[in-house]
Amino acid sequence: MFKRLFERDGRLAESRDTDADWEEIGRSNPYYGVLTDPRFRAENLNDEALVDFFRSGEGDIRQASKILKRRYPDFAPASALDFGCGVGRLTRALAAATGDAFGVDVSEAMLVEARRSAPSGAAFGRDLPDRVFDWIVSIIVFQHIPPERGYPLLKALMERLAPGGFITLQFALYRDPRHSAVPGGRIAIGEGFSTISNVAALRNLPKGEMVMFDYDLTVIAAILFAAGIADMELTHTDHGGFHGAFIYGRKAS
Ligand SMILES: C[S@@+](CC[C@H](N)C(=O)[O-])C[C@H]1O[C@@H](n2cnc3c(N)ncnc32)[C@H](O)[C@@H]1O
Repeated sequence: MFKRLFERDGRLAESRDTDADWEEIGRSNPYYGVLTDPRFRAENLNDEALVDFFRSGEGDIRQASKILKRRYPDFAPASALDFGCGVGRLTRALAAATGDAFGVDVSEAMLVEARRSAPSGAAFGRDLPDRVFDWIVSIIVFQHIPPERGYPLLKALMERLAPGGFITLQFALYRDPRHSAVPGGRIAIGEGFSTISNVAALRNLPKGEMVMFDYDLTVIAAILFAAGIADMELTHTDHGGFHGAFIYGRKAS
């Protein structure tokens, strides 16, 4: 059977200071922390790699726009919120697409990097702005936040979605059995990063590692439905046996 991590032991998961992990990752290896390709490690980064890095963000936003446009032909957002923006890989593309993009991240070190040569139309901050947006995007972020903190964050995000606004959200949901029975409980997810297969291993994971948490789709649906997002589309993601979903949807006008 497929497994979800922490489904019965949320309190222990909650005790992990993932914000401190991301501050550390943002300081030591911000680009590699976003995409674990060796070319993006701090010591390997060059102009060509940086171009490819930001191009991948353009590709992701192009793909999301295509899916939303197909489902909602009047899709034409004039503002976007990028939750967990990292170094601005997606925020930059969202600024180009909407003219008004705001990236939020918990890691000051990531934000420093994001603000360097940010294009016009892109702004960044640590707190959720007190305004609404036409499109809320969060990709490869919630999986790194303990669900007990993530669900209220999702609710706060949805409070910032304008009537008729769109969502593109990604969550990790479950994993292959081979990721649940790993000796020592540590799973390598790249050079220098590992995550865990059981809660006990969490205690031994040093600061600056990347923990991956699985979310409950029922809870996510309840939050989205309560926020007026009754229409949505789900697509499967499989990152080496870590399964999840992209959710595309729209809030009622
Ligand atoms: C794997 S990176 C993804 C960055 C970006 N979404 C992208 O796809 O390029 C995850 C980001 O989420 C941020 N993050 C983790 N926990 C967060 C939280 N509680 N609030 C906001 N951002 C958070 C991290 O600092 C990191 O920059």
